[in-house]
Amino acid sequence: MSDLSKKRRGLGIFIGLIVVVAIAAVAVTALLTNVFERKSEGRSPYLRLVEVNEDTTDPAIWGKNWPKQYDGYKRTAIATRTRFGGHGGSEALPEEKIERDPWLKRMFLGYAFSIDYRDRRGHAFMLSDQEQTERQTKPQSGSCMHCHASIMPVYRELGDGDALAGMNKTHAMSYQELNKMVHEMGHAHPVSCVDCHDPDTMQVRVTRPAFIVGVQRLAESDAPVPAIPSIDIWRKGSRSKPYDPNVDATRNELRSFACGQCHVEYYCSSDFPLTFPWSNGLKMEDLEKDWDETKLTSGARFYDYKHKESGAEILKAQHPEFELWSQGIHARSGVSCSDCHMPYQRDGASKVSDHWVRSPLLNVNRACQTCHHTNEKELLARVDSIQQKNFDLLQRGGTALMGLLDAVQEAKSAGATSEQLKPALEFQRKAQWRLDYIAAENSMGFHAPQEAARILAEAADYARQGQVEALKLAK
Ligand code: HEC
Ligand code: HEC
Ligand code: HEC
Ligand code: HEC
Ligand code: HEC
Repeated sequence: MSDLSKKRRGLGIFIGLIVVVAIAAVAVTALLTNVFERKSEGRSPYLRLVEVNEDTTDPAIWGKNWPKQYDGYKRTAIATRTRFGGHGGSEALPEEKIERDPWLKRMFLGYAFSIDYRDRRGHAFMLSDQEQTERQTKPQSGSCMHCHASIMPVYRELGDGDALAGMNKTHAMSYQELNKMVHEMGHAHPVSCVDCHDPDTMQVRVTRPAFIVGVQRLAESDAPVPAIPSIDIWRKGSRSKPYDPNVDATRNELRSFACGQCHVEYYCSSDFPLTFPWSNGLKMEDLEKDWDETKLTSGARFYDYKHKESGAEILKAQHPEFELWSQGIHARSGVSCSDCHMPYQRDGASKVSDHWVRSPLLNVNRACQTCHHTNEKELLARVDSIQQKNFDLLQRGGTALMGLLDAVQEAKSAGATSEQLKPALEFQRKAQWRLDYIAAENSMGFHAPQEAARILAEAADYARQGQVEALKLAK
């Protein structure tokens, strides 16, 4: 072979090699692209017509991708009614709770709730109802918006990207100031898809900083939390990072956490940032202990308001659905809020969660009968029996509290000093906290019937003890 032909052959092999390498490279790239695409399919198993991201608070845009869930969501604007749930008022505004139960009004004297306190209704109304309440005639803090609007982008804006830092500024803003900002930035929507879903994966998640901080404090305590097993697992781990609900919680727990972002007891005024009082646990007295240990910036023991008649330092309870649920048999059995309030409905071959969040009593078939093979009438009767007993105990508690307040008035007219009245007023604080805890909770005892009855029994007992103390001072 001549040198030339050797060189030619060498060149041929070289070119051949380049071609092989090129083909291999194309093949590997194609494979990688394929793997990558599959991965992103895994991340987002939905066909998307429009892109949504962390700033897409308008549910109508998400609705283009997920029309069935959006349809359900929109129905939260439909008025519904059950014996104790939903809203029993006119179309314009729900009925006044404080007119129906006059003892509530007297219990709240000295606080904005005695001006206007109505039945809740569907999620669609949460922002407009808050803007309209006459409680706004008293100055309210920006913290109010946390649970009534799709506010996360505004928190990030205020905190230079850090939502918690942003939230921690809002208590010092007035409600009107923050509300204006939410409107101007285009996020004046009620709770929206982005508040409960990761826009990339659509997985359920929590976004609200007050919940994340609250549940971390709970995890760091040693309070038993049988309803939230992932906290126990985290506690036994290295604890190198704080408990992160979006990482550590199970999907089933997130199906309740999503609601626990708002349906909880809280402090929301201008003295310090919005707080969920869970550092000692989720039981009623754990929350009470947290408040008793909290100091206002003035240095005084924490209270929400001073009772106008008696002067007692009162703790106002707010819708502790998440906390009461956590003490009941359903939570203990792993039944989440969404199981009852957003049950699956079959839609052709797929299952869709009912985004018409409402009373499960309007939906017993899907909300209860998937687990309870009892007929609808019987199930409704069981719920009614629980709620009726709870209602009766609540009224008795209210009567007992009015007895205490009457006795305090008598003691005052007999010249009792505030120092002398102290023991009675401490009993009022304890009694009222318990009574309000169950009155403000929205299931009329259903979420944890025995626990609710226990709390109401303590309420009546403390009210009568306070009455006895006050009567000692009355002539
Ligand atoms: C086992 C089923 C079940 C679970 C789990 C459950 N609930 Fe309920 N919930 C009910 C029932 C029943 C009522 C009473 C409805 C009524 O009176 O119309 C209710 C009432 C309510 C109400 C008032 C509804 C209305 O129409 O006025 C709210 C709010 C609520 N629950 C939130 C929650 C939250 C938040 C969780 C989880 C922390 C939860 N629920 C867990 C069954 C459940
Ligand atoms: C961002 C805060 C927020 C989140 C998250 C949230 N809610 Fe609500 N929810 C509200 C507010 C506020 C209202 C009252 C609206 C009103 O009366 O205008 C309400 C009302 C309700 C009602 C009463 C509906 C009616 O028709 O009377 C139910 C039931 C309810 N929520 C259950 C849930 C459940 C279950 C979840 C979780 C899947 C959840 N909520 C998540 C804030 C929230
Ligand atoms: C931690 C979440 C959270 C915060 C903070 C919050 N709310 Fe709500 N709010 C709710 C939930 C949940 C409901 C529905 C359950 C209920 O009505 O008990 C509700 C219901 C309401 C309603 C309708 C029923 C009623 O009470 O008349 C009004 C009005 C309202 N809130 C105003 C306010 C105002 C004013 C503030 C600030 C002082 C505030 N909210 C702060 C969660 C919150
Ligand atoms: C208050 C919280 C909350 C809001 C607001 C919310 N979702 Fe959901 N969504 C859930 C929960 C809980 C599930 C059940 C997820 C699970 O079991 O993994 C769910 C499930 C889904 C799923 C999965 C399929 C299914 O139906 O189970 C899609 C898609 C979805 N939601 C879309 C939306 C869209 C679109 C919006 C806004 C219009 C929205 N969601 C608003 C809580 C919420
Ligand atoms: C995901 C399953 C599941 C769903 C959904 C469910 N339950 Fe239950 N329920 C249970 C379990 C588990 C228990 C515990 C009793 C047991 O272990 O047999 C229970 C207990 C009860 C009890 C006895 C309560 C007590 O304190 O002793 C009643 C009443 C009840 N459920 C009613 C309902 C109603 C009404 C609904 C719908 C609003 C409902 N349940 C939805 C699983 C469920």
